[in-house]
Amino acid sequence: VDGDREWAAEVKRLAKLRDATILAHNYELPAIQDVADFVGDSLALSRIAADVSTSTIVFCGVHFMAETAKILSPEKTVLIPDQRAGCSLADSIKAVELQEWKDEHPGAVVVSYVNTTAEVKALTDICCTSSNAVEVVQSIPEDTEILFLPDQFLGAHVKRVTGRQNMHIWAGECHVHAGINGHELAAQAKAHPDADLYVHPECGCATSALYLAGEGAVPDDRVKILSTGGMLDAARETGAKEVLVATEVGMLHQLRMAAPGVEFRAVNDRASCKYMKMITPAALLRCLVEGRDEVFVDAEMADAGRKAVTRMIGIGQ
Ligand code: 13P
Ligand code: SF4
Repeated sequence: VDGDREWAAEVKRLAKLRDATILAHNYELPAIQDVADFVGDSLALSRIAADVSTSTIVFCGVHFMAETAKILSPEKTVLIPDQRAGCSLADSIKAVELQEWKDEHPGAVVVSYVNTTAEVKALTDICCTSSNAVEVVQSIPEDTEILFLPDQFLGAHVKRVTGRQNMHIWAGECHVHAGINGHELAAQAKAHPDADLYVHPECGCATSALYLAGEGAVPDDRVKILSTGGMLDAARETGAKEVLVATEVGMLHQLRMAAPGVEFRAVNDRASCKYMKMITPAALLRCLVEGRDEVFVDAEMADAGRKAVTRMIGIGQ
């Protein structure tokens, strides 16, 4: 414990010396979340990254998040404790594939989830995150075709909520969320009949959650499809004693702090993102000592992507 406290004090000291703000995603290890200046979902962290007054941002998250921060604040130094922290979802579409798709649908508006590379963002009209995807799609005129990428489950969720028919969805997925399956969810819902269900829209089981509600297995108002930030808002207000959580397990830390009287249970406790967990306490310390890994985005590419990301941070809560 003393070692942990010393580590945290050293991280804070070095961050101050570097004039750095430390941002951490809700899926990071608890120690990383606890030492960060801000913890949040993708949208909240993008908004903070665009706004911070320090000259350096240390992004404890995955690479596309740090890249997004660099796109929004090109004049700042953006560091990530381990640049190998990728994302299987961002890897599920390449810029050349998107260009081919666009060529097949001239005139379509391209909506990309923020979980994409800077190259893909440069070919995008408007980015979204899981917390504002519905509002982003609703902001596009009804008669305009949409190419939505790369997550098929988030796409299906948005299509269901908006009723949008002229929306084409890329068949990508996140290996962590796709792996949380409907059988596990149904079994847990049966074992905990009074629990609320919080399901991230990237989950393969999001449809099963709605199916359970449709069948009356779980009352409608107990099933909530939410971004990680939305889960925290819901937790602060819930009257439930127990909540089943279908997302990456790092989320449980913030949920337990937000609502200490509620029992939060992972639907699948193996749903851990190995990329998020590359940001170890040792890696964060090294990052602050050595000033690396620095994130660079080609200036022309950043200019091309900035419009799409700026539109994203202006929409939704
Ligand atoms: P949120 O946008 O809900 O934070 O989810 C992002 C995500 O899945 C990053 O892996
Ligand atoms: Fe990417 Fe999935 Fe990890 Fe999120 S949880 S960073 S979408 S691989």
